[in-house]
Amino acid sequence: MELYEKCKEMLINHYGGKHQDRLEHSFGVVEMAEYLAGIYRQDIEKAKIAAILHDYCKYDDIEDVKKLLTEEEIFECEKYPFLYHAYGSAYFYKNNIGDDEDIFNAIYNHVFGRPSMSKLEAIIMISDYTEKNRKYAACIKAREMLLDGEFNQAIVYSLEQTMKHCLEQHENPHPRQLEVYNEYLEKAGIKF
Ligand SMILES: [Fe+2]
Repeated sequence: MELYEKCKEMLINHYGGKHQDRLEHSFGVVEMAEYLAGIYRQDIEKAKIAAILHDYCKYDDIEDVKKLLTEEEIFECEKYPFLYHAYGSAYFYKNNIGDDEDIFNAIYNHVFGRPSMSKLEAIIMISDYTEKNRKYAACIKAREMLLDGEFNQAIVYSLEQTMKHCLEQHENPHPRQLEVYNEYLEKAGIKF
Protein backbone atom coordinates (compact mmCIF):
# COMPACT_ATOMS: atom_id res chain seq x y z
CA MET A 1 0.00 0.00 0.00
CA GLU A 2 1.37 3.43 -0.79
CA LEU A 3 2.18 5.54 2.24
CA TYR A 4 -0.58 8.05 1.54
CA GLU A 5 -3.23 5.30 1.59
CA LYS A 6 -1.82 4.04 4.88
CA CYS A 7 -2.04 7.55 6.39
CA LYS A 8 -5.61 7.94 5.14
CA GLU A 9 -6.59 4.65 6.78
CA MET A 10 -4.93 5.74 10.03
CA LEU A 11 -6.86 9.02 10.02
CA ILE A 12 -10.19 7.26 9.40
CA ASN A 13 -9.45 4.79 12.22
CA HIS A 14 -8.31 7.58 14.53
CA TYR A 15 -11.59 9.48 14.06
CA GLY A 16 -13.41 6.22 14.83
CA GLY A 17 -16.54 6.79 12.75
CA LYS A 18 -16.98 10.34 14.07
CA HIS A 19 -16.13 13.78 12.64
CA GLN A 20 -17.36 13.01 9.11
CA ASP A 21 -17.18 16.73 8.22
CA ARG A 22 -13.56 16.92 9.25
CA LEU A 23 -12.78 13.82 7.18
CA GLU A 24 -14.42 15.40 4.14
CA HIS A 25 -12.44 18.57 4.86
CA SER A 26 -9.20 16.56 4.99
CA PHE A 27 -9.99 14.85 1.66
CA GLY A 28 -10.73 18.30 0.23
CA VAL A 29 -7.35 19.57 1.41
CA VAL A 30 -5.70 16.55 -0.24
CA GLU A 31 -7.44 17.34 -3.52
CA MET A 32 -6.45 21.01 -3.50
CA ALA A 33 -2.89 20.28 -2.34
CA GLU A 34 -2.48 17.67 -5.08
CA TYR A 35 -3.70 20.17 -7.68
CA LEU A 36 -1.37 22.94 -6.46
CA ALA A 37 1.61 20.57 -6.10
CA GLY A 38 1.08 19.65 -9.74
CA ILE A 39 1.03 23.26 -10.88
CA TYR A 40 3.98 24.38 -8.76
CA ARG A 41 6.03 21.22 -9.40
CA GLN A 42 6.12 19.91 -5.87
CA ASP A 43 6.23 16.28 -4.76
CA ILE A 44 2.60 15.11 -5.02
CA GLU A 45 2.96 12.22 -2.54
CA LYS A 46 4.45 14.54 0.10
CA ALA A 47 1.66 17.07 -0.44
CA LYS A 48 -1.01 14.37 -0.06
CA ILE A 49 0.54 12.95 3.11
CA ALA A 50 0.86 16.39 4.75
CA ALA A 51 -2.71 17.24 3.71
CA ILE A 52 -4.33 14.04 4.99
CA LEU A 53 -2.56 14.28 8.37
CA HIS A 54 -2.75 18.05 8.96
CA ASP A 55 -5.73 17.79 11.36
CA TYR A 56 -4.97 14.31 12.71
CA CYS A 57 -4.96 15.48 16.37
CA LYS A 58 -7.89 17.89 16.02
CA TYR A 59 -10.08 16.03 18.51
CA ASP A 60 -7.41 14.59 20.79
CA ASP A 61 -7.35 15.38 24.46
CA ILE A 62 -5.09 18.41 25.01
CA GLU A 63 -3.32 16.56 27.83
CA ASP A 64 -2.37 13.79 25.39
CA VAL A 65 -1.15 16.30 22.81
CA LYS A 66 0.95 18.07 25.46
CA LYS A 67 2.94 14.86 26.00
CA LEU A 68 4.27 15.22 22.45
CA LEU A 69 5.35 18.85 22.81
CA THR A 70 8.32 20.69 24.32
CA GLU A 71 7.92 23.10 27.24
CA GLU A 72 8.30 26.03 24.86
CA GLU A 73 5.63 24.73 22.53
CA ILE A 74 3.21 24.17 25.41
CA PHE A 75 3.83 27.74 26.57
CA GLU A 76 3.06 29.04 23.07
CA CYS A 77 -0.03 26.82 22.67
CA GLU A 78 -1.46 28.00 25.97
CA LYS A 79 -1.57 31.46 24.44
CA TYR A 80 -2.69 30.26 21.01
CA PRO A 81 -4.66 27.04 21.68
CA PHE A 82 -5.47 26.45 17.99
CA LEU A 83 -1.80 25.51 17.55
CA TYR A 84 -2.07 22.37 19.71
CA HIS A 85 -3.63 20.27 16.96
CA ALA A 86 -1.11 21.43 14.34
CA TYR A 87 1.94 20.71 16.49
CA GLY A 88 0.43 17.46 17.76
CA SER A 89 -0.38 16.25 14.24
CA ALA A 90 3.16 17.08 13.07
CA TYR A 91 4.64 15.06 15.94
CA PHE A 92 2.26 12.23 15.16
CA TYR A 93 3.74 12.18 11.66
CA LYS A 94 7.33 12.31 12.94
CA ASN A 95 6.86 9.65 15.61
CA ASN A 96 4.82 7.18 13.56
CA ILE A 97 5.06 7.77 9.82
CA GLY A 98 8.29 9.29 8.54
CA ASP A 99 11.13 11.73 8.91
CA ASP A 100 10.57 14.11 6.01
CA GLU A 101 11.25 17.57 7.39
CA ASP A 102 9.16 19.36 4.77
CA ILE A 103 6.08 17.24 5.54
CA PHE A 104 6.63 17.79 9.27
CA ASN A 105 6.90 21.57 8.76
CA ALA A 106 3.88 21.68 6.46
CA ILE A 107 1.69 20.04 9.13
CA TYR A 108 3.29 21.99 11.99
CA ASN A 109 2.78 25.37 10.29
CA HIS A 110 -0.50 24.74 8.52
CA VAL A 111 -2.51 27.28 10.51
CA PHE A 112 -0.76 30.41 9.22
CA GLY A 113 2.60 29.35 7.84
CA ARG A 114 5.96 30.64 9.03
CA PRO A 115 8.45 33.20 7.71
CA SER A 116 10.48 31.78 4.80
CA MET A 117 8.28 28.72 4.60
CA SER A 118 8.75 26.23 1.75
CA LYS A 119 6.37 25.99 -1.19
CA LEU A 120 4.94 22.76 0.24
CA GLU A 121 4.19 24.48 3.56
CA ALA A 122 2.47 27.35 1.73
CA ILE A 123 0.47 24.87 -0.37
CA ILE A 124 -0.86 23.01 2.68
CA MET A 125 -1.70 26.25 4.48
CA ILE A 126 -3.65 27.73 1.57
CA SER A 127 -5.28 24.38 0.66
CA ASP A 128 -6.67 24.21 4.19
CA TYR A 129 -8.32 27.60 3.69
CA THR A 130 -9.59 27.06 0.16
CA GLU A 131 -10.56 23.39 -0.21
CA LYS A 132 -13.91 22.81 -1.90
CA ASN A 133 -15.90 22.16 1.30
CA ARG A 134 -15.13 25.65 2.63
CA LYS A 135 -18.24 27.68 1.94
CA TYR A 136 -17.39 31.09 3.46
CA ALA A 137 -17.36 33.92 0.93
CA ALA A 138 -13.74 34.73 1.84
CA CYS A 139 -12.67 31.12 1.25
CA ILE A 140 -14.43 31.07 -2.10
CA LYS A 141 -12.74 34.31 -3.10
CA ALA A 142 -9.31 32.97 -2.09
CA ARG A 143 -10.04 29.76 -4.04
CA GLU A 144 -10.84 31.80 -7.15
CA MET A 145 -7.58 33.71 -6.78
CA LEU A 146 -5.67 30.42 -6.53
CA LEU A 147 -7.40 28.97 -9.58
CA ASP A 148 -6.47 32.16 -11.43
CA GLY A 149 -2.82 31.49 -10.61
CA GLU A 150 -2.61 34.23 -7.97
CA PHE A 151 -0.90 32.07 -5.36
CA ASN A 152 0.81 34.76 -3.27
CA GLN A 153 -2.20 37.07 -3.46
CA ALA A 154 -4.45 34.27 -2.20
CA ILE A 155 -2.15 33.81 0.79
CA VAL A 156 -2.15 37.54 1.54
CA TYR A 157 -5.92 37.62 1.31
CA SER A 158 -6.45 34.54 3.51
CA LEU A 159 -4.11 35.92 6.20
CA GLU A 160 -5.90 39.25 6.10
CA GLN A 161 -9.20 37.49 6.67
CA THR A 162 -7.98 35.33 9.55
CA MET A 163 -6.23 38.28 11.24
CA LYS A 164 -9.34 40.40 10.82
CA HIS A 165 -11.32 37.62 12.47
CA CYS A 166 -8.84 37.60 15.38
CA LEU A 167 -9.13 41.35 15.88
CA GLU A 168 -12.92 41.16 15.80
CA GLN A 169 -12.68 38.73 18.72
CA HIS A 170 -10.40 41.26 20.47
CA GLU A 171 -7.46 38.89 20.19
CA ASN A 172 -4.06 39.72 18.81
CA PRO A 173 -2.89 37.79 15.76
CA HIS A 174 0.17 35.63 16.39
CA PRO A 175 3.33 37.72 15.71
CA ARG A 176 4.57 35.04 13.29
CA GLN A 177 1.36 35.39 11.30
CA LEU A 178 2.03 39.09 10.88
CA GLU A 179 5.56 38.32 9.69
CA VAL A 180 4.26 35.86 7.11
CA TYR A 181 1.71 38.43 6.01
CA ASN A 182 4.38 41.09 5.44
CA GLU A 183 6.59 38.65 3.57
CA TYR A 184 3.78 37.61 1.23
CA LEU A 185 2.65 41.21 0.69
CA GLU A 186 6.09 41.78 -0.77
CA LYS A 187 6.06 38.54 -2.77
CA ALA A 188 2.67 39.44 -4.19
CA GLY A 189 4.00 42.87 -5.15
CA ILE A 190 1.33 44.63 -3.09
CA LYS A 191 2.48 48.00 -1.80
CA PHE A 192 0.79 50.56 0.36
FE1 LIG B 1 -6.03 22.56 11.23
